[in-house]
Amino acid sequence: MADLLIRNANLPDGRTGQDVLVQAGRIAAVGPALCVPEAIPLLEADGWLLSPPFVDAHFHMDATLSYGLPRVNTSGTLLEGIALWGELKPLLTEEAIAERALAYCDWAVAKGLLAIRSHVDVCDERLLAVRALLDVKRRVAPYLDLQLVAFPQDGVLRAPGAQANLIRALDLGVDVVGGIPHFERTMADGAESVRWLCELAAERGLRVDMHCDESDDPLSRHVETLAFHTLRLGLQGRVTGSHLTSMHSMDNYYVSKLIPLVAEAGLHVVANPLINITLQGRHDSYPKRRGMTRVPELMAAGVNVAFGHDCVMDPWYSLGSADMLEVASMGLHVGQLTGQAQMQSCYEAVTSNAARVLGLAGYGLAPGCRADLVLLQARSTVEAIRLRPARLAVLRGGKLLASCPAQHTRLDLPGRPGLVDFGAATAH
Ligand code: FE2
Repeated sequence: MADLLIRNANLPDGRTGQDVLVQAGRIAAVGPALCVPEAIPLLEADGWLLSPPFVDAHFHMDATLSYGLPRVNTSGTLLEGIALWGELKPLLTEEAIAERALAYCDWAVAKGLLAIRSHVDVCDERLLAVRALLDVKRRVAPYLDLQLVAFPQDGVLRAPGAQANLIRALDLGVDVVGGIPHFERTMADGAESVRWLCELAAERGLRVDMHCDESDDPLSRHVETLAFHTLRLGLQGRVTGSHLTSMHSMDNYYVSKLIPLVAEAGLHVVANPLINITLQGRHDSYPKRRGMTRVPELMAAGVNVAFGHDCVMDPWYSLGSADMLEVASMGLHVGQLTGQAQMQSCYEAVTSNAARVLGLAGYGLAPGCRADLVLLQARSTVEAIRLRPARLAVLRGGKLLASCPAQHTRLDLPGRPGLVDFGAATAH
């Protein structure tokens, strides 16, 4: 029995005038002018862009929407953000974390963001945030895939009890092993933390996602160690290096050896352009480094690169709205990814590439995939990045989760009345 026919959509791969048939919550067929014998519910796409939902490969849901608690970050710097998080942590309650996380998930759904990998701080004896986000994960499961990473914010070797707490978090059901090697006390401790965490993940059959080399120090090279242990333990395709900002500042000859190693190890890479462009390069005078990892070169080498939002209205970042198109736009600009294929890659960095990082099953528009879809008021992926348009419909398993009418602004200019939608003149 058919659930829904979506008529006349443009698709992210450039196909136009496509119908999508949804049956039993999954995509049954995609093609022009599909013949459907029975009367089934119809969604007219009117040539707007129908896409698989946005996926955020890197987020911190335990801190989100805490802006102003207990005070705002007046300088906007990483150091004040860390100090502020230290002030906030003793005041946190499980209920308040869950409430803010649920509010963020509402924002996410409204923006067509239906899968999020969130790091959760495990450097807390009470594991408050872990318990809160595991509860949120269960509650949002009908409409949003929330994947949790056990993140030892203060260093798994450096922070007393962090190894035991991380294991407890995994035992409670956290999905992915996290780490932060550049924050350990020495390079040697950083390397040792990578070894210990990768072996733990291998023993338990889990994925790995480490905050790695989030620094402007060109000698912060833990990604090399991460790739080494990935290969040694046969974890190819299951390990992610997040941030990798030091790669921006590394010696070019060294990088010419490093990127092939990253590719050989099948590492996923996640850049967080909104946060990297604001927090990196803060010790520089002029010129100031951008700090984002080498996205175009990694993509050219065949590495799967995704973009994450990282923070929204928390101690480190006062802005953000769960809109992954804002993330894609910033990544495009910071990486100078303005080639036609590169702009398409930026869209993929917040959709299909990010889905590969999470290992999402049934993601996409092929027959058999889950009918998780977002209809955008744009004609193409590039236009979507340019306009960050209205999400006209957001569907999960073919069922409507959120909707809004198409946005048009009426102009009452002398002699030139009419509607402006910012898209009519584009060739995309
Ligand atoms: Fe992060």
